[in-house]
Amino acid sequence: MKAVVFKNQDKGCEYIEDFELPEGNTDWKEVNLYTAALNKRDDFILKGLYPGIKNDIVLGSDGAGYCDDQKVLINPGLNWGTNEAFQSEDFYILGMPGHGTFSEKIRVPSSNIRSIPPHLSMEEAAALPLAGLTAYRAVFTKGDLQAGQQVLITGGGGGVALNCIQFSLAAEAEVFCTTGSTEKAEKLEAMGVRQVVNYKKENWGKMLKSEAGLFDLIVDGAGGEGLARLIGLLKPGGKLVIYGGTTGKSNNISPQLIFWRQLHIMGTSMGSIGDFQNMLHFVKAHQIKPIVDSVFDLKDFHKAFERIRSGDHFGKIVLRVRG
Ligand SMILES: NC(=O)c1ccc[n+]([C@@H]2O[C@H](COP(=O)([O-])OP(=O)(O)OC[C@H]3O[C@@H](n4cnc5c(N)ncnc54)[C@H](OP(=O)(O)O)[C@@H]3O)[C@@H](O)[C@H]2O)c1
Repeated sequence: MKAVVFKNQDKGCEYIEDFELPEGNTDWKEVNLYTAALNKRDDFILKGLYPGIKNDIVLGSDGAGYCDDQKVLINPGLNWGTNEAFQSEDFYILGMPGHGTFSEKIRVPSSNIRSIPPHLSMEEAAALPLAGLTAYRAVFTKGDLQAGQQVLITGGGGGVALNCIQFSLAAEAEVFCTTGSTEKAEKLEAMGVRQVVNYKKENWGKMLKSEAGLFDLIVDGAGGEGLARLIGLLKPGGKLVIYGGTTGKSNNISPQLIFWRQLHIMGTSMGSIGDFQNMLHFVKAHQIKPIVDSVFDLKDFHKAFERIRSGDHFGKIVLRVRG
């Protein structure tokens, strides 16, 4: 079968026409994949910036296709375990260390296979699972966002962030966000975001504060030096939910602000089977369509990686695996 395989850190990944998928666990089900989608972690793996990297693994966490003649998408998290609060030690994500979705076939536990919400195309279905799950848990399971609350989503043009924005708008919250480009800001405002501020401007925090005041909830995937400023933008009792650290470690965080304003600072990663189920239900109920930036053929995977590295993308980058 055709697959994009991570060979090793020197060679990176290769498009292989006759990759043999190992038999694996016999009680898993086979999915014939039609589409897959990139995530930042795929690029981190190529750059050697991901824990537990193994050679000769099919990359990719997101995929959609057919299983038993049903249109399906795949929950990329395996072995979450029984505790809703955090994943078990055996938890892992498809596409490293286990074989992933950048291929024509994959085998996964049947509990990871779900019907595609009927309003979604195969491209949109592949764009949803990892980012949608992460966003749902961040905004609702952890953030407990309520209608009418003010929420700030950082880096609004990213895959996870766009899902956070769509979910928050559907929940009738007042949504604000940051982004790095004027073009993306226009698109975000057109979606219904109340104010978009460019994080490259020195005074982005002050600009947000003068329009919004302080926030009930902030959802951040950037980390870095911006994190200290985000803490200063929370209302007393407000929540900061962190799902990523794209811009690195953070200094200058004020413990005084955290304790005096009685803030809740939480980390979140992926989500449980229950979060995945609730996310799909929410997407169906609100007819939400994940935003697809671009679609490439599987053999042109390197163009897809160039696109995610450019930072110019708005939404998910999808690979057409067949058809
Ligand atoms: N914990 C988890 O389960 C989980 C799941 C998925 C992703 N993640 C992590 O979350 C992060 C984003 O992932 P993704 O797949 O959504 O990536 P992505 O689609 O490539 O988006 C990259 C994001 O970084 C933002 N950004 C870049 N520089 C920034 C800055 N200085 N300040 C604020 N935002 C900045 C971009 O904002 P603009 O495009 O608007 O400029 C964009 O939102 C990555 O670190 C990834 O590893 C974690």
